[in-house]
Amino acid sequence: MHRPPPVWQLGDCSMAVSTVRCHNRWMDTEELIASQISYYRARAAEYDDWFERRHEYRFSDEFVERWHGDVTALRAWLAAAPPTGHVLEIAAGSGNWTGELLKTAGCVTAVDSSIEMQALLAEKHAGVEQIVADIFSWQPPQRYDNVFCGFWISHVPSAQWRPFWDLVDRALKPGGRVWIVDNAHPEYACAHGPGDWPVAAKPRQIEHAGNEIRKRTLRDGSEWTMVKHFWWPKELVAQLGELGWVADVSHTSFAFLYGIVGR
Ligand SMILES: C[S@@+](CC[C@H](N)C(=O)[O-])C[C@H]1O[C@@H](n2cnc3c(N)ncnc32)[C@H](O)[C@@H]1O
Repeated sequence: MHRPPPVWQLGDCSMAVSTVRCHNRWMDTEELIASQISYYRARAAEYDDWFERRHEYRFSDEFVERWHGDVTALRAWLAAAPPTGHVLEIAAGSGNWTGELLKTAGCVTAVDSSIEMQALLAEKHAGVEQIVADIFSWQPPQRYDNVFCGFWISHVPSAQWRPFWDLVDRALKPGGRVWIVDNAHPEYACAHGPGDWPVAAKPRQIEHAGNEIRKRTLRDGSEWTMVKHFWWPKELVAQLGELGWVADVSHTSFAFLYGIVGR
């Protein structure tokens, strides 16, 4: 079936710049965002192996069962109180949540900066409006009924936290809300997860859990700098409250947090 190619949109960048120490050198927020975009473009072909827990992400049978159990819990939560109308999916990636959204949304607009991720999404789902754009410099062309962010808010650099939520505000119709799912803080996941998980995940996540700047290595050995801020529900609710948002955020059994944010 012929599908129109995604649109590559580059808006005016009005970025709040701050400087952070990234491993061996200083990076400003703009550079950090560019690095994270490049990382996900390079990671696209490997990404679903992480979500589906294949290959090196398949720690143990118990871990895989618990992980998929928590994914099922997220899907059930979404199905019970789904975003409806025209839904803006921010950082939609390879479309792991887009299919869930399509079940109840009138239509879905999926924004992601990776054309490689967008290609994977297009293979899985038809009828999605796809926009390739850096969300931090994108201006919503219209208002949407609701917004969905899957495994995204943890990637928003702290210098962009307020501008990001201002953008969400501009993107939402009155009464619109934001559905979020993301990784639980590793301390929560270790305390409540299968016993082998902390050992398997340690080199990747635990050591740097207090800092939002992280190093990631892909299968080809390439190393990347990106942002991963692990939120605790209480902390997230408080920080959103400071920006005027009201959030209801919970944990699944060990792996995720999820919630709905309104004004
Ligand atoms: C962890 S993945 C989440 C993908 C999808 N939402 C999911 O839950 O499977 C993060 C996504 O954010 C995208 N991304 C990273 N930086 C971005 C930016 N500045 N603007 C838009 N998307 C970005 C990446 O390309 C990647 O697809």
